[in-house]
Amino acid sequence: MVNKTEFGLRNDVYRRPLATALNRLSITQGWKCADIGAGGGDVSIALAGVVGAKGRVYAVDNNPQARNEVAKAAAEHSQVIAITQKAESLRLPELVDLAFCRFLLMHVKDPVLVLSKMASAVKETGWIVAQEPITSSGRIDNKAFSMPDCSNPDIGALLPGLVKKANLKIIDAWAEAPAGAGPGPIADYLKSLTGIDPGEDSVVLPPLVTVIARPC
Ligand SMILES: C[S@@+](CC[C@H](N)C(=O)[O-])C[C@H]1O[C@@H](n2cnc3c(N)ncnc32)[C@H](O)[C@@H]1O
Repeated sequence: MVNKTEFGLRNDVYRRPLATALNRLSITQGWKCADIGAGGGDVSIALAGVVGAKGRVYAVDNNPQARNEVAKAAAEHSQVIAITQKAESLRLPELVDLAFCRFLLMHVKDPVLVLSKMASAVKETGWIVAQEPITSSGRIDNKAFSMPDCSNPDIGALLPGLVKKANLKIIDAWAEAPAGAGPGPIADYLKSLTGIDPGEDSVVLPPLVTVIARPC
């Protein structure tokens, strides 16, 4: 599939699953979006580029440090508004067209509650998109990834079922994994994440399961 939209993501090896998802939504200028668990704001900034100056992106994270990082990274995008808030008590100043999360539900205790909150944040015609990994399906030279400190490292494998439990209507769902061997962005990402240099070994990063849903 040829992506219609190029996203100016900073070295983000997971930009392809993001682009696939956003292109399926036909997101356009003027949309109001929320990036929940925004972290440093890579996705928020990508969204800001698409929705333009007339759109809005609420970058929500429970860590106040993230708010500073987003504010710095999004200095050129006045449509990005950083909010410090727990996803479990999500409350935005207005209903949005898209509530998005990536690598968030793997860290929360009650992912169904968070999905329900995302659903209540969107307009009747709005979209909920979640992208979460199956960590142990990633491989470095056929050795499985692990993330022992994370609440739900394989939550991607459960994601469609969780979305159903949150009483949302699944419109589309699939998995995508960046992969490579030798020097390049995949090896650099792995090194920054784990400190491991894979050398010439094969690397398949944990696949991201994407679910696109709408309120019922
Ligand atoms: C792994 S980062 C993902 C950042 C970003 N979504 C991305 O894909 O690059 C997870 C982020 O979720 C935030 N987070 C974790 N639990 C949260 C919660 N209950 N409510 C809001 N944010 C949360 C963390 O502070 C962190 O910034």
